[in-house]
Amino acid sequence: MCGIIAYLGEQPAYPRLIKGLKRLEYRGYDSAGVALVDQDIQVFKRKGKVSNLEAFTETLASQTGVGFGHTRWATHGEPNDVNAHPHLSNNARIALVHNGIIENYASLKATLEKEGFVFHSETDTEVLVNLIQAIQDANDLPLEEAVRLALRRVVGAYAIVVADKREPHVLVAARKASPLVIGIGDKEYFLASDATPIVEYTNRVIYLNDEELAVVRKNGDLEVKTLANVPLTPYVQELDMKIEMLEKGGYDYFMLKEIYEQPNTLRECMRGRLNAEEGWVRLGGMEDFASRIAHAKRFIMVACGTSWHSGLIGEYLFEDLARIPVEVEYASEFRYRNPVLTEEDVVIAISQSGETADTLAALEIAKEKGALIYGIVNVVGSSIARLTDAGSYIHAGPEIGVASTKAFTGQVTLLSLMALHLAHQRGTISEPRYRQLISELAVIPDKIKKVFEQDAKIRYIAGEIKDRSNALYLGRGYNFPVALEGALKLKEISYVHAEGYPAAEMKHGPIALIDENMPVIVIATNRSAYDKIVSNIQEVKARKGMVIAIVPEGDSVIQTLADYTIEIPETEEPLSPLISVIPLQLLSYYIAVFRGCNVDQPRNLAKSVTVE
Ligand code: F6R
Repeated sequence: MCGIIAYLGEQPAYPRLIKGLKRLEYRGYDSAGVALVDQDIQVFKRKGKVSNLEAFTETLASQTGVGFGHTRWATHGEPNDVNAHPHLSNNARIALVHNGIIENYASLKATLEKEGFVFHSETDTEVLVNLIQAIQDANDLPLEEAVRLALRRVVGAYAIVVADKREPHVLVAARKASPLVIGIGDKEYFLASDATPIVEYTNRVIYLNDEELAVVRKNGDLEVKTLANVPLTPYVQELDMKIEMLEKGGYDYFMLKEIYEQPNTLRECMRGRLNAEEGWVRLGGMEDFASRIAHAKRFIMVACGTSWHSGLIGEYLFEDLARIPVEVEYASEFRYRNPVLTEEDVVIAISQSGETADTLAALEIAKEKGALIYGIVNVVGSSIARLTDAGSYIHAGPEIGVASTKAFTGQVTLLSLMALHLAHQRGTISEPRYRQLISELAVIPDKIKKVFEQDAKIRYIAGEIKDRSNALYLGRGYNFPVALEGALKLKEISYVHAEGYPAAEMKHGPIALIDENMPVIVIATNRSAYDKIVSNIQEVKARKGMVIAIVPEGDSVIQTLADYTIEIPETEEPLSPLISVIPLQLLSYYIAVFRGCNVDQPRNLAKSVTVE
């Protein structure tokens, strides 16, 4: 949510900032802006996408090697040119970009107004930059010192980069609860919200921790300190990310590329963790706390959005296979409802970005109460990954499309591995069943490839229903969370209203919605509930609903009932979500494309939700 990129080095900053902003655009695209620092500070900003800013700065000739940029997801104040970042202090000496929320901005603003400060925007960020000016003016302080003192008065979350035209060779950055990465290049530094704009220049990075401040200087100096001014020795890490991972690679949208990457990303997720020939699964992340995890009284999955849907599938897996009680919680609810937790609980945080503010806050609470915290995260080095006691990365590579696809199947794969490992360890699964599920999990990537053979048919069906304004998704058992996920995918990228329901719940209300205008997408792959799903389909047909059914390959019964069927390879029921979600991802993708939507950057959304 909001992307920051800063450059300080010997090359012209501007082209690097624009390129970086494009890479970060998935974090927010309400407005974009840059500040270029020389003898003066020049600020350019525009409502909308980075391309608007680029058009606006077409004739810019600045060669300065110091500057920063911002792409915004609006919190305080509507998306417009004035509210766009960077923001300047009243004396136009200090410029600042910010990701996060300053919660006490109203009282700080009132105090500053009494001192004569004038505010042009509705943002909390403009308050912070003027607070820095006020502190600097009162004591004639260098920028670093003024930033440190200002941040001590701030309540909330921030990742900031600040420049002062009196110190044009210096950038000051700090973070609390919003991410910031420092890239160390050859005589150059990058500061960014994540590693994506950095990776093409360097793979050496430092992840700043909460309440840390960094100062980079043109002479090559880098200092990292706490907000209490205690110098730190930062840990320099090597990034394992390739630039091709950040390109569309010939696909029209990142989302389609990411859907098609899933056979590979799942193989990466299972690499070294599953051996089908020898019949074992293991997760390095579980080893340090093996006994505590195996003897946990309860697992609690906390997550948001699509990751919460993965958690629901995790509940089915853990309870079914490992016989451990599981609760699945929206992180935003969990954090505010004084949950009962003990040291015998294991809290699993599921997050693609590893930065979701609500999930982070839920973890803090769980940690306070003594539960063991396990992370299932995609972004390496992210805040959640660093806060957890233990965890496993899903190794899906960067997910750029705002709608989550490959991260979802990666999360479900990891949860399947965990459930199998626990079930085996706790003796709740027979050896043959354990081996059977392992062998089946190993071939899921090939089965997903087979689903892609249905691409043209799914595209055709999407064309048939693209103009409907509602859709209902039904599934049972393991495929109920898949129905929720299918509905979410459709809503978020095509703005079509959609609901997911357990198929049997239809009679308790949603059936009233069904008429000839309502497409009903039914996931009908569960062998154990097949007859019941057939009855549900008949109930929809009896009310003239249009049925699109996801059926097992070779199905002949539902073919005769449904308007359209999409055949997918059969698999073991606990693993079926990994396959049944693929046609739903493709269906929503094509509907969004037909409706002319920007699939990768749907309105009002951002990839990394770093504010509550
Ligand atoms: C939906 C989607 C969101 C995220 C949610 C949690 O496609 O992407 O619902 O799943 O914002 O994000 P993470 O997983 O990064 O914590």
